[in-house]
Amino acid sequence: MEEESAYERLSDFALGFQSSRIFLTAVELDIFTHVEPGARTAAEVSSSAGTSLRGTEILLNALAGLGLLEKSAARYSNTPLTSRFLVAGIPDYAGVGFRHTANLWRLWSSLNDVVKTGKPQRPPLSEEEAKDSTESFIMLMHERARFRAPKVAEALELTSTNAVLDIGGGPGTHSIAFAEENPHLCAVIFDLPEVVPIARRIVLEAGMQDRITVKPGDYYVDDFGEGYDLAFLSAIIHSNSPDGNKHIFRKAFDALVAGGRIAVVDFIMNTDKTTPEYGAIFAVNMLVATDEGNCYSEREIREWFAETGFINPSIKHEIDEDICMMIAIKP
Ligand SMILES: C[S@@+](CC[C@H](N)C(=O)[O-])C[C@H]1O[C@@H](n2cnc3c(N)ncnc32)[C@H](O)[C@@H]1O
Repeated sequence: MEEESAYERLSDFALGFQSSRIFLTAVELDIFTHVEPGARTAAEVSSSAGTSLRGTEILLNALAGLGLLEKSAARYSNTPLTSRFLVAGIPDYAGVGFRHTANLWRLWSSLNDVVKTGKPQRPPLSEEEAKDSTESFIMLMHERARFRAPKVAEALELTSTNAVLDIGGGPGTHSIAFAEENPHLCAVIFDLPEVVPIARRIVLEAGMQDRITVKPGDYYVDDFGEGYDLAFLSAIIHSNSPDGNKHIFRKAFDALVAGGRIAVVDFIMNTDKTTPEYGAIFAVNMLVATDEGNCYSEREIREWFAETGFINPSIKHEIDEDICMMIAIKP
């Protein structure tokens, strides 16, 4: 019996991809949208999705088996969860972001070669594919940060912070949350040119265009400006090498006023880099998706702070189960 459950544990690892693939295919084919408004037969869903009847019926049954759809009298309906997040056109629609996860699937499929060579195997994208990929990546960041940003704002205690530099700010979700909670605060979202129109759109939707500006640039190369009292880096350090991060920290140091703070939000690993568990898995995501990224330990981040002139590094603040924040000061 013990032998059997030990084997099953391994088997669960081997087969774990199947439910993930079923979910991602449903997202990519927009099945949850085609199932709305509910009580739809497999034939109705397949005709509106433009998919085969055999494939659609088997997929719908698996989604129902996984608890992502309800099935009654051969008709399928969304659950409260899927109708809240996965029906196109609704305010909380998260399908664009999950398409980024589906794109990652293709990169993860080359993991054997990536581990052998140490280099990502990214297929070249057409202009159109690159645009879609940026949109889905940034929207996934927005969806993830929407729930996290208010907690970060609270942990940062921003009552005497006036000017935030949001380095690689992406959709600007954090800057928006900071500005919403603190009416005196202004922010600059600094990100790559292709991200700027998406960030501007989200800032406009939040009605924050008077206090949040979006500045195009490359954080390795371009000038950050000066006079900020907070340099904020959320989900940035894991994309870069240790030297790359120290270079960005130095540039952030120069952009801050004396007494200004640098704040890093990320998976912050224990020294052996095996926990938090999802941080160790996410490091593999950086292995397949970036040239030099990784998840870094608290000790490494403390060393980078010290080497780039920052003092008084805080202990880790827990933001979410796996995500923490560290803060240090420019003297
Ligand atoms: C993982 S996202 C994090 C976004 C945002 N900080 C958040 O936490 O939601 C990383 C961001 O860094 C930006 N980025 C990557 N390389 C960059 C570079 N060289 N210069 C400026 N921004 C960059 C990406 O476009 C993306 O918006």
